[in-house]
Formats: sequence, C-alpha cells, structure tokens
Amino acid sequence: MARKKIIAGNWKMNMTPSEAVELVNTLKPLVANDEADVVFCVPAIDIIPVVEAAKGSNIQVGAENMYFEEKGAYTGEISPNMLTDAGVKYVILGHSERREYFAETSETVNKKMLKAFEHGLTPIMCCGESLEQREQGITMDWIRQQVKVGFLNVTAEQAKTAVIAYEPIWAIGTGKTATTEQAQEVCKGIRDCIAEIYDEATADAIRIQYGGSVNAATAPELFAQPDIDGGLVGGAALKPDFGKIVNYNK
Ligand code: G3P
Repeated sequence: MARKKIIAGNWKMNMTPSEAVELVNTLKPLVANDEADVVFCVPAIDIIPVVEAAKGSNIQVGAENMYFEEKGAYTGEISPNMLTDAGVKYVILGHSERREYFAETSETVNKKMLKAFEHGLTPIMCCGESLEQREQGITMDWIRQQVKVGFLNVTAEQAKTAVIAYEPIWAIGTGKTATTEQAQEVCKGIRDCIAEIYDEATADAIRIQYGGSVNAATAPELFAQPDIDGGLVGGAALKPDFGKIVNYNK
C-alpha cells in the first residue's frame, strides 16, 4: 500500500499569535506539495489565528496536546471539542517533553488517544528511547511497551488512521539526527508491533514518522526509507527550511 507522507511541524512553546501569523504567511508558498500531508502543530493560543492564516492553502492545523475529559473543572486544559471547533485536525500526544516535564504516562496518553478518535482528531502519538535505554539495548522493548499501552482499546479501523512519531530523545533538539538505518530499524519495529497487535493491513496503513533534528539535508534519505512515512520536525519547522523538508522529493 502506498502511504501518503505526512510532514508535521511541532512548534513547541514558540511563536506568539502575531509571530505565528507571520510565519504561516512566510511558509505558505513554500510548503505546497501534493504528495504529502502538511501539518502545523502549534501552541493552543496560536490555533485560531493559524487556522485563519492557513485558509486556502494545503496546511492543516494540529495541536500539541489535549486533555482526555470533555469539559469541566480542569484549569488550564484544552478539550477535544475546543480543538475541533477551532478547525484542528491533528493532535500530538505523548511527546517526550510532556512525558518528562509534565509527568505524562503511557496510560494518560492512551486515554487521550481514545478521546481523540472519539472526536475525529488524528493523533500523532510520540514514542522514543533515551540515550541510556539505547545503550542498554532496550530501545525496542521500551518502544513496544509505549505503543502497546498507547493503543490499548484502539480499534484496528482507528489505528489505520493514526500517526506514530518515533522520536529518539537523544536526537531531539541536539542536532544529532539518528542515522537512516537506526530510524528505519525502529520504525519497522513499530510497524511489526502494530501487525502483532492488529494485523498486516493495519500495519500497512498506519503512518510512522521520524522526529529528532530533521533538517533539509537529512530529510530526503530518511523519508525514502520503506517504513518512514514522513517527519515530525521541531526547530527546522520554524524556518523557511521547512519548505525544503516538505519538498524533500523535488
Ligand atoms: O516533535 C519534534 C521534535 O521533538 C524534534 O525536535 O528540534 O529536534 O527537530 P527537533
């Protein structure tokens, strides 16, 4: 099955609303590529102006997080309805920064996954090992655990539409991209894990991204791998270089 590439920017805690609009206006003409889904995952306060600024372009808008309850006394949280009503299509869940600084567990991520599907949002579920885990040789055990818990009670039909981002923690924001072989090996391992949980058809449909210091120079080779269906890009998504990453195949 030919999976459509998905190239997403994760803006993290960068860009005020006015800076966000400026960035979208700069990137809009640079990120046109019919062969890939292009997603800007932006801070909650930037969502509405970014949706507005992206109108008429191929840019789809994503959130960087979401809560798993519908509404109520959860000060500071954003509900799935708020996201869909604002025009959001995707939501990053379980980024390693959320796991590390905000104590998110795979169980919490699973609750958010289920809620996202319930609301028609496509989750981009992140997983990835620390340098210590890689050195201990437990990378795949750890990631399989994150995937298995994250997808608990997710149906095969839902899983087929999901996106998993493999982001080795040691490669995030460090300028140290995983080698193409390392990235492909883990992305294939994730696909095999999905096949075990569900079946070959689901594994074949799900899209798996690589994230971690992706730039215009490393993107073409990474995205050409059989099990890498695009990227989740941090720092380079805030620059005109993102246009080159999106057009990795040109
Ligand atoms: O989610 C994207 C990410 O964590 C990678 O960030 O800056 O290394 O591309 P960066």
